[in-house]
Amino acid sequence: MNNSPVGIFDSGIGGLTVVKEIIKILPNESIIYLGDTARVPYGTRDYTTIKKFADELVTFMLNKRVKAIVVACNTMSAVALSGIIKSSGKIPVIDVIKPTVEFSLNQKGVNTLGVIGTRATVNSGVYQTQIKKKNKAKSVFVKVCPLFVPLVEEGLIDNKATQIIAKNYLSYFNDKNLDLLILGCTHYPLLKKVIEKSFRRKIILIDSASPTAIEIKNILEKNNLIRNLKSKPTIKLYVTDAPDRLSETADLIFNGKLPVKLEKVRI
Ligand code: DGL
Repeated sequence: MNNSPVGIFDSGIGGLTVVKEIIKILPNESIIYLGDTARVPYGTRDYTTIKKFADELVTFMLNKRVKAIVVACNTMSAVALSGIIKSSGKIPVIDVIKPTVEFSLNQKGVNTLGVIGTRATVNSGVYQTQIKKKNKAKSVFVKVCPLFVPLVEEGLIDNKATQIIAKNYLSYFNDKNLDLLILGCTHYPLLKKVIEKSFRRKIILIDSASPTAIEIKNILEKNNLIRNLKSKPTIKLYVTDAPDRLSETADLIFNGKLPVKLEKVRI
């Protein structure tokens, strides 16, 4: 099992922000990524629909014989995690929310946190519950930003329209005195600059990528699943639609060049 790939999935290309960090800290691991770009966004859909989609992505990964699954999507982590764990059997499953909450609460001098995410993630209450469970004294403010995912998938990263929408959504936090903002969606790191500019003062921005990469490393080590071959690992990046259209935005995540081309796959 050690030399099998790690399976990573998201509703679209946002989960590649997590892939990038995993490659950075686990450069000897083989990876299979699947972005369900034919059906993105998930965050505006019913929980039953999201759970059904998640189940299909897990089946794809199990057929690829992955040794661990990383749910590189806050929306699926928020509403479909228990089903994903159940379907995955003995294979370890890592979600993005738990490590991101822990990482955020470990930052110094943070009393007031903000969380932005898709409608499904924010309305699930998972972030609020997990933060309060770990530290009752923290104040948490949440805001749904439903247009951010389509803007990223369209490649409208630092565009005038994106700036206006970001300012509009994030003005909710103007009187909240935030110390830290969790980017509770794996697409949002692409909008980091625009988000930063929408705040009047400097705050800490935390996204899911690095905490999740550290978590998968720990889990692989704990389960003796680290790849032990000296040969070059393989990286496969699949999407369910429009690989060519999305490749430019995907390139941006990797500072200009994806490690391999996006391939279209049917699930
Ligand atoms: N990257 C997904 C997330 O982290 C986007 C969800 C969506 O498709 O709306 O939530």
